[in-house]
Amino acid sequence: MTTTLQDTSPIIIAHRGASGYRPEHTLAAYELAIALGADYIEPDLVSTKDGILIARHENEISQTTNVASHVEFAHLQTTKIIDGESKTGWFTEDFTLTELKTLRAKERIPQLRSQNTAYDGLLEIPTLQEIIDLVKVKSGEINRTIGIYLETKHPTYFQSIGLALEAPLLATLTANGYQGANAPVFIQSFEVGNLQDLSTKTDLPLVQLLNNSGKPDDFVVSGCERTYTDLVTASGLTEIAKYAQAVGIHKNLLVPRDNNGKLRSPTSLVIDAHAAGLLVHVWTFRNEDCFLPLDFQGNPQGEYKLFFSLGVDGVFSDYPDTAACHPTVQW
Ligand code: G3P
Ligand code: CA
Repeated sequence: MTTTLQDTSPIIIAHRGASGYRPEHTLAAYELAIALGADYIEPDLVSTKDGILIARHENEISQTTNVASHVEFAHLQTTKIIDGESKTGWFTEDFTLTELKTLRAKERIPQLRSQNTAYDGLLEIPTLQEIIDLVKVKSGEINRTIGIYLETKHPTYFQSIGLALEAPLLATLTANGYQGANAPVFIQSFEVGNLQDLSTKTDLPLVQLLNNSGKPDDFVVSGCERTYTDLVTASGLTEIAKYAQAVGIHKNLLVPRDNNGKLRSPTSLVIDAHAAGLLVHVWTFRNEDCFLPLDFQGNPQGEYKLFFSLGVDGVFSDYPDTAACHPTVQW
């Protein structure tokens, strides 16, 4: 068994909250995640028209809110190119926070998580400040510090429309007392440039997200030819370690799957990242068979066991109770 970088227990990061049980990115999802044993909750952040950071996985919100049923916002439906993809719907940057607060969240994948639709129409889109307030209250109640694992979504796009995410993010974190390398915060991005820039402005831990295909969107915009495949090499990881403290990796980068969904031998990614001084956090763990490899159908615990044995420092999970209660993890 390979150990974690700091020889501590791997952290449980509640992916978009306890999103297996509640509509994602709602206070209810985050609150339940904390109750189920998460160490960190994971808000993805986008901006409103008035520059307020809110939690949504995309700035186009028709899949996770009831915006389409609000006739007063029908005129805001439009098509935009976001990170190279054409998207039609309603976009957070076209709404003030006051307007967005009239919407209600809904389950993203009702065909798979029909029980979560019981909460459709009940829950607001939370702001970053509301999430921090929740975390502080809950940490006090359970006498355990809960961290926040924040992702800047579409940073180059938001910069291009005059709603850069980084300044309000750092201002909010500073105003709430999050400072220094040991603060219970990670800031993550699939892009490189905004993390490099953030590293000159904050000591808070930064996380380079690494996908199993494609390239960072800021590389696309700048014409840089490097891809995620280049970034996961030993030399790429050494470069990342100059501005980040962790990598957040697609799990197939560590344990690839064959065409039948069966697991292949692990790569050296954890060993290489640890050699570069980087923590390794892996996404995304989900209980449903359609997300599990062939080897662990009906057995999500087995998947955690495998990845923990490889020395990963944390896992992003839709089901933090499954991750936290894994019986074979003893550190
Ligand atoms: O942030 C890393 C993890 O959350 C996977 O990315 O697409 O779910 O935000 P995504
Ligand atoms: Ca995320």
